[in-house]
Amino acid sequence: MKIAVYPGSFDPITFGHLDVVARAAAVFDLVYFAVLINPHKAAPIFATDERLASIREAVDESCPPDMAARIAVEAFDGLTVDFCRSRNATFLVRGLRAFSDFESELQMAHTNRKLAPEVDTVFFMTALEHSYLSSTLVKEISAFAGDLSQMVPGAVIRRLASRGRSL
Ligand code: PNS
Repeated sequence: MKIAVYPGSFDPITFGHLDVVARAAAVFDLVYFAVLINPHKAAPIFATDERLASIREAVDESCPPDMAARIAVEAFDGLTVDFCRSRNATFLVRGLRAFSDFESELQMAHTNRKLAPEVDTVFFMTALEHSYLSSTLVKEISAFAGDLSQMVPGAVIRRLASRGRSL
C-alpha cells in the first residue's frame, strides 16, 4: 500500500490544494492531508479545527466518494517526517505552481530526505488555472471582503461568510 502525506498550513485551503490532493490520490492508495499546528504563525484566518473541518468538507464535496474515502485529514505538530513515519507514509506530496516555488521546495525536500531517507518527496504541478493562487493572497482579499468564490471552496466561503468576511 502506497501511503503519502500532503503537509501544509492550508490557511485556508484553496482550489490549488484540492487540485494537488486529487492528483496525489490518483497515484497513492492513501493520502493524509496533514495540517500543521503552528501556534506561532501570525494572524491565522482559521484555527486548526476549522481548517480540518473545511478541508474535510471540501474534499467530500469535490472528490468522487471512492477518492474522498482515501484522503484522510489530520493535524500534526513537530516534524513532517515524524508524522510520515507515524502513519507509515513513504511519500511526501507538495505542489509546484511556478518556477519560483522550486528553490524553497528543493531545499525542503533535501532536508526531509536527510532526516528520513525512506521518505521520498513527490511534486505535482498545480493545474494552470489555479497556479496563481496562494493562501497569503486569499487572506488579504478576505480581509477586505473581496470575492473569493473562484479561489477557495464553498466550505471556506461559508465559514468566512458566517463571520461577515468575504462573500
Ligand atoms: O503550506 P506551507 O506553509 O508552505 O507548508 C510548509 C510545511 C508545513 C510543509 C513546512 O513548514 C513543514 O514541513 N513544517 C513542519 C516542520 C518540519 O518538518 N520542518 C522541516 C521541513 S524542511
